[in-house]
Formats: sequence, C-alpha cells, structure tokens
Amino acid sequence: MGPVLRTAQRADLVQMAALEARLFGASAYSSEALRQLWDLFGPLHFVADDGAGHTTGYVLGALALGPEGRGWILALGVVPEARGQGLGAHLVATAARALAAHGAREVRATVSPGNGASRAVLARAGFRAIDEDPHYFGPGAHRLVLALSLSPEAGRW
Ligand SMILES: CC(C)(COP(=O)(O)OP(=O)(O)OC[C@H]1O[C@@H](n2cnc3c(N)ncnc32)[C@H](O)[C@@H]1OP(=O)(O)O)[C@@H](O)C(=O)NCCC(=O)NCCS
Repeated sequence: MGPVLRTAQRADLVQMAALEARLFGASAYSSEALRQLWDLFGPLHFVADDGAGHTTGYVLGALALGPEGRGWILALGVVPEARGQGLGAHLVATAARALAAHGAREVRATVSPGNGASRAVLARAGFRAIDEDPHYFGPGAHRLVLALSLSPEAGRW
C-alpha cells in the first residue's frame, strides 16, 4: 500500500522535525518553529505516513494575513527512499487544495534555482516564476519566487 496523506497532528511534529533536519540541515525549521507554525497553520500541514508509523514526506502550508488571499508552501520534503513516485506532487496538490478551501486565491513558494526536483514538482503543479532574489533569505541565499493561481478560472483546484 502506498503512503497515506493526512493532516499533521501534534504527535507528528517529532518526526517532521527529524525529517526537516535530515533534508535541510542548518537551514531546517527548528522543533520550536515547527510547533509554532503548526499552532498557526496546522490544518494546512500534511504528512505522508507509510502505514507503519514512519513519516515519509510532509508539506507545510500557511496563509498570509491581508486582502490578497495569498497562501504559501513553506516547506516540502520527501525521504530519499520514497522519491520519484509522485509523492512530492501529491503533497503539493494536497496543500494547494487545502489552501483553496481556506480561501487562498494564490499560492507562493520559494525554491533555490539549482533545486531541479523541487522546481520540476512545482512546475508540474502549475507554479510559475514571478520573481528572483539573489539574497532572499540573506546574503547568497538565492531563491526564485513561484506562484500558482487558485482562482476558479485556473480550474483544477
Ligand atoms: C523536491 C522533493 C520533495 C520531490 O519529491 P518526490 O516525491 O521525488 O517528487 P515527485 O516524485 O512528485 O516528482 C519528482 C520530479 O522531480 C524530477 N527530478 C528529480 N530529480 C531531478 C533533478 N535533479 N533535476 C530535475 N528534475 C528532477 C523528477 O523527474 C520528477 O518530475 P516528473 O514528475 O515531471 O518526472 C524531494 O526531492 C525532496 O524532498 N527534496 C529535498 C528537499 C527539498 O528540496 N524540498 C523542496 C524545497 S523548496
């Protein structure tokens, strides 16, 4: 059986933090930050569960305050052993649908220009580059800013 996607529960935070640290190292969200993001946006956070209690992937959605109806995908990760099977795409689509259900009209995400897998997943979901900042997260932390329209005209969500 493939992984089951479900809304992240508080008990998932330990494994999510471990996966964040494994995938992002020094740039990972800390356990403290993950807990606070979950307090704010938990219904927009999803984990993939392999059925044996192991988290194989996760996505963190968030919704910005303001009239724009702008959602964000703050983080996305899949364990190396489970990659290339569509799980990343499934996580992105699930977060986008949840954001649309919570009123978002657009989703944004940032990605390092050299992150081919992430760019492929986001492009396949319909994200397009709208901006680029060589110092987005600080000196030398280059990111593309991508956006996906969730408007009814864009369909699919
Ligand atoms: C990005 C990530 C979540 C994708 O997860 P996944 O489950 O493998 O995603 P999918 O199987 O849905 O799709 C993978 C796509 O990447 C493509 N891909 C894989 N490696 C690639 C590379 N080096 N360059 C370009 N494309 C690549 C695959 O061909 C596939 O595209 P396709 O469906 O059009 O063929 C996963 O690679 C990951 O966790 N990376 C490390 C953390 C990270 O970078 N997160 C994103 C930060 S913005």
